[in-house]
Amino acid sequence: MSRKILIAGNWKMNGLLEDGKALAGNVAAEVKKLGKPECEFLVCPPFTLLTTVKKALRGSKVAMGAQDCHTAEKGAHTGDISPVMLKDCGCSYVIIGHSERRADHHESNELICQKAEAAHKAGLKTVICIGETEAERDAQKTIDVCTRQIMGSVPDSATAADTVIAYEPVWAIGTGKTPTTADVEEVHAAIRKVLAKKLGKGNANKMRILYGGSMKPANAAALLSLPDVDGGLIGGASLKASDFMAIAASVCKK
Ligand code: PGA
Repeated sequence: MSRKILIAGNWKMNGLLEDGKALAGNVAAEVKKLGKPECEFLVCPPFTLLTTVKKALRGSKVAMGAQDCHTAEKGAHTGDISPVMLKDCGCSYVIIGHSERRADHHESNELICQKAEAAHKAGLKTVICIGETEAERDAQKTIDVCTRQIMGSVPDSATAADTVIAYEPVWAIGTGKTPTTADVEEVHAAIRKVLAKKLGKGNANKMRILYGGSMKPANAAALLSLPDVDGGLIGGASLKASDFMAIAASVCKK
């Protein structure tokens, strides 16, 4: 089953206008050098940089996504951004349910599911994040937690065409720690089984499951070569075009 590798950068709350313009411009230029890359590229800047980044990506094959959205199309929701607005400023993706939002904004599986449905309705693809905390891992609950998060936060209507799953162990995010490749493959294979149960085998076999959490040029090749790992969601290392591209280099041939 061929699934196109997705190399996605999650810029989080980083970058002023000039930084965003430069980073997106550098990524676009490097991706252009690859000609017809065998993988797909995505950058997810903060809301304030979307318009600037879109301009810097013009004519390139790099897609743009946001890092969150509201469930409604518009209305009295001070400070929120709707999926329709994201689509309007050039996004084709949105990250939903990142562990930092689950923790900082108390986002539940139910809310994440509603956000994903709203995003799909607006024509956006979603990257739905799941992953266990360190305590859950120590208690050997990793697969249980991921199963519950998939069952609760992935819409029943999700398909391989509109949804990407990102497995991000919370304890690996921004810490420099990563699970062993054997652990990553075990969890990804388990996630695919849960997806098959929820969405049918056809969707599960075609749906991309990214790994995220301290992915760096030094560990990317080993992680990205695992059979059930279909790309990476990259935080810290996506803020430097050279690191981001070095991660991609192991899987996106010229
Ligand atoms: P990291 O973040 O690569 O900095 O660990 C990944 C993420 O949170 O998406």
